[in-house]
Amino acid sequence: MNSSDLSKIRTEYSGKPLTKDSVAGDPLTQFNIWMNEALAANANEPTAMVVSTVSERYTPSSRVVLLKGVDETGFVFFTNYESLKGKQVSQNRNVALLFFWPELERQVRIEGQIDKVTEAESYEYFSSRPYESQIGAWASKQSTPLRDRDELIEKFVEFLQMYPEGAVPLPPQWGGYRVKPISVEFWQGRESRLHDRIKYTLDDSSWKTEILSP
Ligand SMILES: Cc1cc2nc3c(=O)[nH]c(=O)nc-3n(C[C@H](O)[C@H](O)[C@H](O)COP(=O)(O)O)c2cc1C
Repeated sequence: MNSSDLSKIRTEYSGKPLTKDSVAGDPLTQFNIWMNEALAANANEPTAMVVSTVSERYTPSSRVVLLKGVDETGFVFFTNYESLKGKQVSQNRNVALLFFWPELERQVRIEGQIDKVTEAESYEYFSSRPYESQIGAWASKQSTPLRDRDELIEKFVEFLQMYPEGAVPLPPQWGGYRVKPISVEFWQGRESRLHDRIKYTLDDSSWKTEILSP
């Protein structure tokens, strides 16, 4: 098959029903149930999520990052604060997150507002990363143009010499963000394209659910 035959690709979905009665009362509990099922199913990169941001001129931009924590306060990931996403969220705090677990025929869409985590929280995670990843965070000016790959390697070696293992400080431009959800939608693939969708929306600090057409 070549790419001109893309229209012939059809996957039939056959997931278990997702109903208002079977879902948890809040989306974080429901998310944890689905994340645990994705982990149990050995889904590929289960913590990978697309983060979409918008600039102050409403130009959207998406990229994959890894989820590093989730609880009732939100969804946490780590990055470079001076990257494109960092610049965009400093202009507009509205973001969207998207998980796709093809092995389970499931998608989760999250919309909410983003804030930086505390420096202590960033440091705690940073210090748990492998030494080379810590050095990489110093060496990479994420999303800025490079002359060539050698320029990056030279920076990496420079910082390896500057900071010995076990003594790498937290780079000031590196840290975490937490996305506090205001809506979370769970999508389950079903037969004949009659998929199930349940959307939670925050309404006066309590979660209401509704069923959406597929
Ligand atoms: C599977 C996967 C995981 C990634 N995880 C992260 C991550 O946790 N943090 C991060 O900053 N970039 C991560 N990236 C790289 C981003 O997708 C992106 O290239 C980078 O953050 C720069 O994005 P920006 O220019 O939009 O800010 C990951 C990419 C992939 C494909």
